[in-house]
Amino acid sequence: MQVQIVDHPLAAARLTTMRDKTTGNAGFRAALSDLTQMLIYEALAGAPSADIAIETPLTPYTGSRLASPPLLVPVLRAGLGMVEQAHAMVPESNVGFVGVARDEATAEPVPYLESLPADLSTQPVFVLDPMLATGGSMVHTIELLVARGATDVTAVCVVAAPDGVKALEDSGHPVRLVVAAVDDRLDGAAYIVPGLGDAGDRQFGPR
Ligand code: URA
Repeated sequence: MQVQIVDHPLAAARLTTMRDKTTGNAGFRAALSDLTQMLIYEALAGAPSADIAIETPLTPYTGSRLASPPLLVPVLRAGLGMVEQAHAMVPESNVGFVGVARDEATAEPVPYLESLPADLSTQPVFVLDPMLATGGSMVHTIELLVARGATDVTAVCVVAAPDGVKALEDSGHPVRLVVAAVDDRLDGAAYIVPGLGDAGDRQFGPR
């Protein structure tokens, strides 16, 4: 599996803001939005372009557009904070939704929503979820996508744990990972360490 770590001073600065426990909800959301812009930019580097005929004020010109805009799939709740910026970067994309809560006792994913196109065989899919911890929610989401024919899936995450990376690898599904950092480990409650806490709570407040 391809793991692309976005190693850039601006990405590191926004991630530091997100990790800092003194950053409030608004600052956290702003840093996540900025970082999402960088992750999407990197995730689309090398994506195929198609020619498009336009006219500049001076002359006809052959420009380019994304040949195949990815379906954007935020994993609710935490992925909501990534979708607006991702959509701003690729305004021609469609958006699907997957909702997976986490059972705090077992850390197992509890699915509660899937709103996706029936046929995903002809387009790339970007799954947006800031935290790749055990990988349970991401693997669940990828299975929903693969069941609809997806063959080109990118997990766009902020922080991953080694366990989550391994879970994606072991799933055997066609996925690559674009992420700002792979952290040290999971703690006993399946939180990423050093991490940034609960990415949903830090954006939207506690449930
Ligand atoms: N989900 C989060 O929001 N944070 C973690 O550290 C792990 C899973």
